[in-house]
Amino acid sequence: MGTVFKGGVIALPDGPVRADLRIEGELVHSIGEDLERDGDMVVPCQDRILLPGGVDPHTHFDLPAGEFRTADDFATGTAAALAGGTTTIVDYATQFRGQSLRQGVEEWHRLSIGKCHCDYAFHLAVTDWNDGIEAEVPQIVAEGIPSFKMYMAYKGLLQLDDGSIMRMMEILRDLGGLLCLHCENGDLVHWLSQQLAQEGKLSARYHPASRPGFVESEAVFRALTMARAVQAPLYLVHLSAGESMDHVNLFRQRGSTVFAETCIQYLLLNEGRYSLPQGDAMAYVCSPPLRSQADSDRLWEELRRGNVDVVATDHCSFNLMGHKDRGMNDFRRIPNGLPGVENRLPLLYSEGVAKGRISLETFVKVTACNPAKIFGLYPMKGTLVPGSHGDVVVFNPRYRWTVRAARQLQNVDYNPYEGWEVTGSVESVFLRGAEVFRDGRILGQEPAGRYLRRRGRKEEA
Ligand code: URP
Ligand code: ZN
Ligand code: ZN
Ligand code: ZN
Repeated sequence: MGTVFKGGVIALPDGPVRADLRIEGELVHSIGEDLERDGDMVVPCQDRILLPGGVDPHTHFDLPAGEFRTADDFATGTAAALAGGTTTIVDYATQFRGQSLRQGVEEWHRLSIGKCHCDYAFHLAVTDWNDGIEAEVPQIVAEGIPSFKMYMAYKGLLQLDDGSIMRMMEILRDLGGLLCLHCENGDLVHWLSQQLAQEGKLSARYHPASRPGFVESEAVFRALTMARAVQAPLYLVHLSAGESMDHVNLFRQRGSTVFAETCIQYLLLNEGRYSLPQGDAMAYVCSPPLRSQADSDRLWEELRRGNVDVVATDHCSFNLMGHKDRGMNDFRRIPNGLPGVENRLPLLYSEGVAKGRISLETFVKVTACNPAKIFGLYPMKGTLVPGSHGDVVVFNPRYRWTVRAARQLQNVDYNPYEGWEVTGSVESVFLRGAEVFRDGRILGQEPAGRYLRRRGRKEEA
């Protein structure tokens, strides 16, 4: 017995195809006409687009931050992901100071096991370059975590020096792994923040002045230079500044293998939000910060040209009440991050495809196909071809709705896109052949998500 999606348009990375899709068991069985067999369930899909389940390769669920943790844990975060048409998330497991890599990974398994509504995998963020690390990396890669993250920012907390970063690039290069870098010059952020503090400029409106575009683009240039010297591939997380793309394009011309990620907030929101009254401005404090309209326009242009590989979320939710308001009088104390996992696909569809700024192919590539390829999950995830997981989003491209925090599944007390008019909505979601979300609700009693081991670059065909 299978499930046949009839009469829709299947959005594939090479272009849309008008055909039926049949799932048998957990996998896509066939694409074509007259696929129905006795006992099959039929899902009518007239005027619907069938999207491969979204892959969000950048989330932070249940992340500790000072005295508290993110508002979303793996239960609420992955439920929100399904509501937003994302069937796979790759979360940043984090090794904190004084810990081994193993301890970081084990903690993330403990936080997530039995709680996930969508499929999930981990990267590992390394924040302490202690003696045992180098010896641990090969085992972590072999277990299905071939990508690591390091921070060039958050001085005294998460930031690592260039020497450690280059050593990690070298180790991962030889193992077929990939280093993801948060590019902001942490010492420069620290210096600028001190200047602002001395001038008494500590309200949320000064947050972006503590990390202007050059803070990012300098770190991007340095990261690209290091990767070039080491001859290692590099993945740049959450690019926000237009000028960072100058460097990416330049190094690509020189032959570097570099993957560029931006996030939905850098395409849709800009720095004007920091001029809102303090209580509202705090909601938008994230690193890197929201930037100018010119930066957003540049990112859209690079996206259209195919130079941005991934549109992720960096979902890292903190409540306005009880979390963000701790920094009411000092932006340095506002926990950084925005929610996004519940809205990424519909927002990018609405602002991108429906408004004619990007094609449906580009949309599918940057939300599903590319992240699956880059992070060793393709073609199991990120596309719909025979043998892929039956992760299908039934998307209504014409339905109009308005974003309201009051109706969201994510467990955070605001939505950065509150009031946004959206064209296109997620009607239902299938995860490995089973319907798990319909009409705003998660279906089934038990969370159906499964942990995914990922392949490194060397294991690819
Ligand atoms: O503000 C942000 N982005 N918080 C999450 C951690 C990170 O830097 O990715
Ligand atoms: Zn069969
Ligand atoms: Zn980051
Ligand atoms: Zn992040």
